[in-house]
Order: sequence, then C-alpha cells, then structure tokens
Amino acid sequence: MNKLVVKMILFSLVMMLSSCRQHTKQYVIGVSQCSNDVWRDKLNRELRTSSYVHGNIKLEIESANDNDEKQINQINHFINEKVDMLVVSPNQYKTITPVIEKAYNKGIPVILFDRKSNSNRYTGYIGVDNYEVGHVMGIFIAAQLKGRGLVAEISGLAGSSPAQARHKGFMDVLKKYPEMGLVASASGDWTEKSGYRAMSKIIREYKGQPVDFIFVHNDRMANGVIKAIADAKSSLFDHARLTGVDAISLPDGGLRMVMDGKLAATYIYPTNGNAVIDLALKILQKKPYKRDNLFRSTIVTKDNAALLLQQTLEIERQSDNLQVLHEQGNRYLESLNMQRVGLIMTIVIIVLLAIVLFLGYRAFASRAKIHAEHDKMKDAQLKFFTNVSHQLRTPLTLIADPIDRIASHEKFEDGDMKTLQAVDRNAKQLMTLVNNILDFKDVRFDEAGNRMAGEDGISDTRVPEVIDEELEKNIEEYSDSMTSILIVDDNKDIRDYVRSILISDYKVWIAADGEEGLNMARTKEPDLIISDIMMPRMDGLEMTRAVKSDVAISHIPVLLLTAKSEEEQIVSGFESGAIAYLTKPFSSKILLARIKRIVQEQKFLRRQVVAEIQRMEFNTVKNSEVLALDKHIAIKDKDFLNKLHAILDKEMGDSELSVERIGMNIGLSRVQLYRKVKAMTGMSPVELLRKVRLNRARILLQTTDKTVSEVAYEVGFSAPSYFSKCYKDEFNELPTDRWK
Ligand code: FRU
Repeated sequence: MNKLVVKMILFSLVMMLSSCRQHTKQYVIGVSQCSNDVWRDKLNRELRTSSYVHGNIKLEIESANDNDEKQINQINHFINEKVDMLVVSPNQYKTITPVIEKAYNKGIPVILFDRKSNSNRYTGYIGVDNYEVGHVMGIFIAAQLKGRGLVAEISGLAGSSPAQARHKGFMDVLKKYPEMGLVASASGDWTEKSGYRAMSKIIREYKGQPVDFIFVHNDRMANGVIKAIADAKSSLFDHARLTGVDAISLPDGGLRMVMDGKLAATYIYPTNGNAVIDLALKILQKKPYKRDNLFRSTIVTKDNAALLLQQTLEIERQSDNLQVLHEQGNRYLESLNMQRVGLIMTIVIIVLLAIVLFLGYRAFASRAKIHAEHDKMKDAQLKFFTNVSHQLRTPLTLIADPIDRIASHEKFEDGDMKTLQAVDRNAKQLMTLVNNILDFKDVRFDEAGNRMAGEDGISDTRVPEVIDEELEKNIEEYSDSMTSILIVDDNKDIRDYVRSILISDYKVWIAADGEEGLNMARTKEPDLIISDIMMPRMDGLEMTRAVKSDVAISHIPVLLLTAKSEEEQIVSGFESGAIAYLTKPFSSKILLARIKRIVQEQKFLRRQVVAEIQRMEFNTVKNSEVLALDKHIAIKDKDFLNKLHAILDKEMGDSELSVERIGMNIGLSRVQLYRKVKAMTGMSPVELLRKVRLNRARILLQTTDKTVSEVAYEVGFSAPSYFSKCYKDEFNELPTDRWK
C-alpha cells in the first residue's frame, strides 16, 4: 500500500512538473560565424530577435575570429551535439567545405549565409548578391570618373566567396571602359588592419600616375586604407577617393564615413538575420522553401547617406525595443513559472503531509487497538487465573485441613472414614482440574504459578484492629451458652466439612446458596453466618448486604469464607457489611479461633450497648446518638438503638408500656423485637426497660427531692414496693439508702 502511494506521488509530481514546460517542439540551431565584428554583431542581434518572435528556437552562436581551424572545431562540436540545424558563414570555402559536408551527410540541415561553400551539399543559401555589389561600385566609379581614370582595388579575404564575387562584378564593369585602368590591387582579410597593410604595400610598390579611385571591399578595411595613405603622405594617392561596402550605422561605420566625406560611396550590405531564421524554420518544419536566396540592396552616396542613417537608426531603435520587451516578457514568464512551480510544490507538500498524517493516524489507531486487545487479553488471563485458583482452593481445603485434623487425633475416630472419603473425592477432582489447566495451551503458566503460589496458605484479610486490654478481659468473661451458626455454601463437601468441624461446639444450620441463607437467617436468627461468595441464585456479597439492611437480622455478623481472593472482592466484602474474611484453603483451627473470637466480640458488644444506653441516661442529653459504639455495629443497628432509646426515654413513665408497643414503633413484631434486643443487649426487652427505668429512678433520687413513691411512679412502676425490690436487685442498695 505504502509503495503504491509513493509511486502515485512520484507520477503526479512528474506530470505536474512536465506540465510546466512548453508543449511546442524546441529547435536547437548552431550558428557558426566566421568573424567577430560590428556587422556580425548586428547580424547576431537580428538572429536572436527573430528567434524570440518564433519562441521555439534555441540559438547557439559561436565565432571563429577569421580562423579556419577554429571554425572547423566549432562545426564539429555542433555535429556532436546533434543540433537540429547548422547555420554557417564559412571563413574560406575551401577549408570549411569538408566539415560542412560532414554535417550535411549526417542529416543535419545546413544553411549557408553571406558566404558560400565549395560544394552543392547544403540545404539552403541566403546572402547578398556580391557580384552585384562589385558591379554597382564599378558603375558608380566609372560614372564619377566619366569613364576615364586610374583605379586600385583592396579586396577581402582571398578564399572567401564575397571577395571573389565583388572582384568579378567590378572587373566586368571596368572591361567596358577602355580608358579606365586597374593599376594596383592587394588583398586583405576584411579587417581594418589588413586594409592598412594592403594599402601600405601598394604605396610601397606603385610607381605610376596618381590614382583616382580605390574600390575597397568593405568599410572596415577602408578605414585602414585611409590611415595608411595619411601615414605615407604619398602624393600618388593623396587625392584618391574611396568606396567601401557594408554601410553600418555605427559612429565609425560606413554611413557616417560617407556623410563625413571619408568615403565617396558604400553599399548597404544587409545582414538579413530575420530572413535566415525564416528560412531555417521553413526547413525544420518541412515547409516548402527556396534553396538559393540572393538579395540586392542599394548604394549609399552623400545624397542619401543622412536619410539612410536616420532610417537605419529608427529600425535599430525598434529592434532594441523588441529586445527590451522580450527581456521583460522573459522575466515575467520566469516569475510565472516560478509561481507555478511553487504552487505545484505546495500542493505536493500538502498532499504528502495529508498522506503522512493519514498513515500516522492509521499506525496510531492500530497500535491503540493492539493495546486495547492486549489489555483485554490480560484481563481475561487474570480472570482465568482467579477462577482457576478459586476452583483449586475448594478441593485443597477439603484435602489439607481434614488430613491435618485426622492426624491430630490420637486414634482413628468415627467420622474419620467419611472425612477420608471426602478427601479422596476432592484429591481426584483436584487432579482433573490440574490436567484441564495444563491442556489450556495459550496460558502462561509461570504467571499462573506465581499467582497461585502467592495465594497459597491461609490469609486472614480482616482489617487489622487494635483490641485493647480491657476488651480482651471482657471477651474472656463472656463465653457461655450454645452459639448458633449458619453455614452458606454451594459446595456440599465444604458445607459438610465445615459442619463437621463446628458441630461439637455450635448449633449449626446449613444453606446451599445466598437466597436460602437469607431466608434461614430470618427464620433462625443465628449468632453468626459463615458464607461463601461465589454461589448461584444469590452470591455471598448480595446476601450480606440483604442481612445488613434488614433491621430484624442486621446485627448478625457475617464471616465470608471464600476462594475469591482478589483485592476488590475483599473490599466489596467489607463494604457489604461482612465482619471478617477468610480465604480458602483455610485451616479449621484458624476458622474455629476466628469464630470464637467473633462470638466473644459480639458478647462484649452487647455489654457495650447496654453501657451506652445507661450513659445516655446519665448525660440527660435527649435523642443523642449512640456514637461511642463499636464500628462493627451496622448502621441499621445504630438506628435501631437510637429509636429504641428514644421510645424508652419518652414512654418509660407509662406503666402500661408493652413490648408490642415498642416493637410497633420500631417496625418489628414482638418476637423480632425480643430477639433483636436480646441479641444486641443480652437482655429481653422487659429486662432492658426495667434497667432503664431503674437508672432513671436512681438519677431522680440523687438529683431531686422527690419521694421514692413519686420517683417509682414517674419511671413507670405501678407498685413502689416492687420498685424497691428491683432497685435493690439492680444496685444492691435500697432507694431509701440515698439519705444515708
Ligand atoms: C563581416 C564582413 C563584411 C563583409 C562581409 C563579407 O564579417 O567582413 O565586412 O562585407 O563580411 O562576407
């Protein structure tokens, strides 16, 4: 998926970037110039301007600086570069022709311009008719001399086609004028220096009559000629007039020279850059074209020089404007392109970011899912091990403790055989359980082992409490009569075994689940309930909560005896109102000790309750709560005691006050009230009422001047003599003793 995304991004990136490029085909044209001078500069400018107009041409212009070898290298370079077209102005046709043919043979179209080659292997030619140039100049000079006079000629580079053609055109005119003679000639290479050298040579060698006209093949060489004549101060050439070729509009160009009188005439030798580009495009785009294109131009004399200069300057100005416009357009296009690229890059970055975000989110989500699954698995494992340990603990209890008990007997006793059979049954059950666990492949048994080892042994998880010395002493005092215990467990072996442990010391009832346990607690009102937690129908926690919220039985302590040892279970055990917690496998010795202690604590609690009721009398604070009572007293029981005390306090003066009426006020039947009061105080309601009355009487006798009879009636005794008897029994003194 990720690879696919990367590929898609790269593809769209390439597509978008390629859309930045222009769609029309671009042509590369290699231009090889023979020279580097003002005329060539002008031509190069025109070539460029024209290429801008077309927009699909890339020009590569090189100059050979009048050097054949250099030009050959240049052309070879263009061939290697595989340019779409070659435009050449060959320096000297003999030397340059082979490399031009080479390009042509390789399939590169070749345009020759201004100068020709020696061969027919070229695609097109464009240039000025140089024969015409020489011819026009010949006619001009003949006219000036009126067909009579002496002329000299300084020609261009000997091996170049224009030099040869100009010479021929000039000579063909001279032939027609028998009184005009060419008396001296020399050859330059188109440069000013070569003009100087050629003229100097003529001056040195010429011994004839003064010369009237010199036909110089171009304006630059004419400049050199003028300097040579001036330097030589030769009287033979002092008055000679000159003609040139090219007519460039620059300050030292031919147009100015004519205007300044340095030249008698020159010939506009047009550069024709735009015509070169037009021809090139026609050839490249395979359109019909004319192979040989010869231009004719015009002669410049003093008469038209100023006008022509003006026109030329105007044309140049326009072309400069075009250049500026082009540059501006280029800059604009460049910045547009930059913006476009920038926009595309931004889009690409946004897309990439979105993809990264998406992938990141997916990775995060799948990791979160893995975590959640991992947690779920851990929970499931924990549950599994808890259940396993729960299931192991019951048979373990029924094996370890019974054997311990039997071993502690001096000889084999009656019930021991039955106990051993139960042990055997449970040992087999344990074996099956262990096998089942080992078959469970996905479980990490090291972890299970640790857990089970940690829970092994008996742990009394009762919240530790400080039992002060007085409490201990009181507990000792209160151990009598047969206590009743209700055992609630769904496992019959456990029920039977616990029963067998308790039966000799306690009255035992048995229930198979929480619901049955709750019903039996209501009907039997045992002194203690021992209950398992995990049971069908109603579990131990639910049953404990039900017991603690029923005022008739809320005083019964519940001891949870269970294999479930998870911490939260212990906490909810206490929250439900259980007084103690014992985990399986348990030892019968500890269970017995625990029961004994709870029973003793309950007895002590009763004494505390009575003491508290008395304290409330002495404090004379009405309706105060039974605050000082032990924390093991359920809220329901505190409520009950407060209500009971309030009724007794209010109505003790009524000698008719019955147990029924008290019960009705609290919401209990006579029997329920009897059992409740008995369980909580160790006294019957009648006994408690009498005790409260006598306490009140004692306070009245000590703090008021009322007579014994008055006091007796006030606290609800109908006969003062019976009051005195009871008072004597309670306080071991007579009511009249207060005056002693
Ligand atoms: C420029 C030039 C001109 C001349 C032409 C002949 O390089 O020398 O002055 O007219 O070439 O090819």
